[in-house]
Amino acid sequence: MCGITGFTGKQPALPFLLQGLSKLEYRGYDSAGVTLVNSRKLKTWKTKGRLSELEKKLPNDLAQSCGIGHTRWATHGVPSNMNAHPHMNSDNSISVVHNGIVENYAVLKKELLEEGYTFHSDTDSEVIVQLLDFYYRRKPVMKEALMRTVKRLEGSYALCVTSIYEPNTIYVAKKESPMVLGMSKEGTFCASDAPAMLEYTREILPLQDGQFAILNKDSLEVFDTDGKPAEKKWIHFPYDVQSAQKGGYDSFMMKEIHEQPSVIRETLRGRFRGTHVVLPNIEALDVDWNEIHETYFIACGTAYHACIYASGLYQRYTGKLSTAVPASEFRYSSPNVDGHTLCIFVSQSGETADTLAALKLAKAKGCPTIAVVNVLGSSIARQTDAVLYTAAGPEIAVASTKAYTTQLVLLHVLILKLAELYGVRVKGIGALIRDLKRLPEITEEVLKNEPFMKKCAGMLKDQRDAYFIGRQLDYPSALEGALKLKEVSYVHADAYYAGELKHGPIALIEKNTVVLALATQPDVAGKTISNIKETVARGARVILVTDQTMRADEFKYVVRIPELTPSLSAVPCAVLTQLFAYYAAKEKGCDIDKPRNLAKSVTVE
Ligand code: F6R
Repeated sequence: MCGITGFTGKQPALPFLLQGLSKLEYRGYDSAGVTLVNSRKLKTWKTKGRLSELEKKLPNDLAQSCGIGHTRWATHGVPSNMNAHPHMNSDNSISVVHNGIVENYAVLKKELLEEGYTFHSDTDSEVIVQLLDFYYRRKPVMKEALMRTVKRLEGSYALCVTSIYEPNTIYVAKKESPMVLGMSKEGTFCASDAPAMLEYTREILPLQDGQFAILNKDSLEVFDTDGKPAEKKWIHFPYDVQSAQKGGYDSFMMKEIHEQPSVIRETLRGRFRGTHVVLPNIEALDVDWNEIHETYFIACGTAYHACIYASGLYQRYTGKLSTAVPASEFRYSSPNVDGHTLCIFVSQSGETADTLAALKLAKAKGCPTIAVVNVLGSSIARQTDAVLYTAAGPEIAVASTKAYTTQLVLLHVLILKLAELYGVRVKGIGALIRDLKRLPEITEEVLKNEPFMKKCAGMLKDQRDAYFIGRQLDYPSALEGALKLKEVSYVHADAYYAGELKHGPIALIEKNTVVLALATQPDVAGKTISNIKETVARGARVILVTDQTMRADEFKYVVRIPELTPSLSAVPCAVLTQLFAYYAAKEKGCDIDKPRNLAKSVTVE
C-alpha cells in the first residue's frame, strides 16, 4: 500500500500534494516524495521517513502548478532515499509514482538492461518509468506509450505520470490498486483515496480497473483499455475527512478487518506456478534440506498463534518434527538447536524485542533462519537468512487482524515450499492451492456474517468471561479469538483444547457463560460438538463455528464457513472471532484502536 496524489491547476500544486499525502499516511509512511513540473524541467524531492521529513527539505517558494506525490509502504527494496518515489527516467524528463506490485519486474528489468537502461533503485516500480521512456522514444505520444507500458505489467498498479513534454498534464492508470479523480475550481486532481481531496470536493470519480485518465488543469478525460473514451461514473462522497481515512469505518480495526480479502490476495500474488511454489529466496538458501531434523516456529502474541497453526500444519504436510515456542521462552531456554534446526520467525512489525533476541540466539547457534514479516527492511527482516513479506500494508490498530491472516496464508505457502524441498508430496496439493487462491473471495463471503457476529457479541453484555474451544488446527484459532476479545473488550477469555474442558475448566461453566466453539476440522468436529453439549447441559450459551456439513440442529447460534480445504479454515475463523471481539468492545464502549496498557510494537523486553 502506498499513497499517491497528483494535481494540475491554476494555483501551486504543492499544497494540494502535501495535504493530500498527509491524509493518506495511513497507507504507508516509510518514505515520501514529490515531483513538480515546469516547462523546462522536472524538480523532484524525496526522502526516507515520514512526510514531515520531506517537508523539511522543500524550499518555500515552489509555485509550479502541476505535480505528483507519493508516500511509500515498501514491498520491493528497503525504505531509503533511493527507493522512494517518484522514479525518473535517465534524462529526468518523465517522472512516475506507483502503488501496487509489478510481478514480472525482474523479466522487464532484464529486457531493459539489455536495451542499455540503467536502474537506480531496488524497486519493482522503476521498471515502469524506464518502460515508458522506451516506448516514448519509439513514438513520442505519451498516451500510446502509457497504453503500451501498462499492457506489459503483470500484477497491480495505480500510477501517475508527469513529464516535461506535456508540463500541465498528468497521466493516470489503474489495475487492482485504488485511484480516484476529482475536479474543482482550483484544478484537477487524483489520489489513492478520497480523503486526500475532500477539502476540495466531495464529487469523486473512482477509476475502474484497466482504465486510464488524462488530467489537465480544466479537463479530465477517462479511457478504457483500448484508448476509447469511457463513461465517467461520479459518486458523492458522504464522509468527512476523519472518517474517510478510516474508509468510513469508525475504527482502524474494523477497516483492517475489511481489508483482509485484498491483502490476502496481495500476499498470494505470484506465489504459485501450477503446483510449484515460487519462493526463490527460500530455494536459494544454502541449506541441505535433507539434513533438517527439526523446525521451530518462534514469535510473540498473535504472531505466536500463527506459529502454533504453522507447526501443526508443518507436521501434517512434511511429516517432520516441529515446535511452536513464544520468543520470550525460546531466548532463555538454552535450546538444543544447531545447523540441523530450521528456525522460522514471525512478526508483523519486525521489531519485537523478544523475537529479535530469539533470532540472534538461533543465528549464534548456527541454525538456518527464515522470517515472515510485514514491515520491509525492519530489524528482523534484515537479520534473517531469508525473509518473506506479508503484504498486509500498515496495520494501525493495536490489535492485529490483517497481519495475522496474511501470516497464516504466507506460512501455508512456505510450508508447501519446504515440503517440496524435502521431496515430500503433499496429498491433494492441487485442490489445496486452488482453495488458497479462493481465500480472498471466501473471506469476502465470511465478512457477510458481521451482523450475526454482532448479535453474538451482544451475549457478552453482562458477562465477565468467555471461553473459546477447538481441536487440532482449530485450537490456535481459539487462542487467537480469546486474545482478541481480551485485548479490545477487556472481557476475560480463555482458550482450551475442547477435549481438555472436562479435565478442569468445565467447573467454570454456569448459566449464561459464553462459549465460542470452533469445529471446522472434520476428523474431530464431532468430538468438539460432544464437548459443547456438556457445556450446554451446564447452562452455557454456545456460538458454534463449523463447516457446511456438520449436523448442529440443536444449537441456536451457528455460523457455517464456506466449503474449503479444512486446513485453511483458520482464516475464516480468524475473521469471525475478530468481528466478535470488535462488537464486544463496541458494546462496552472501549477505545478499540488503542486498548489500555498495550503498544503496537513491543521493542522492549
Ligand atoms: C495482538 C498483537 C500482539 C502482537 C505481538 C507481536 O493483537 O498485535 O500480540 O502480535 O506483540 O508483535 P509482532 O508481530 O510485531 O512481532
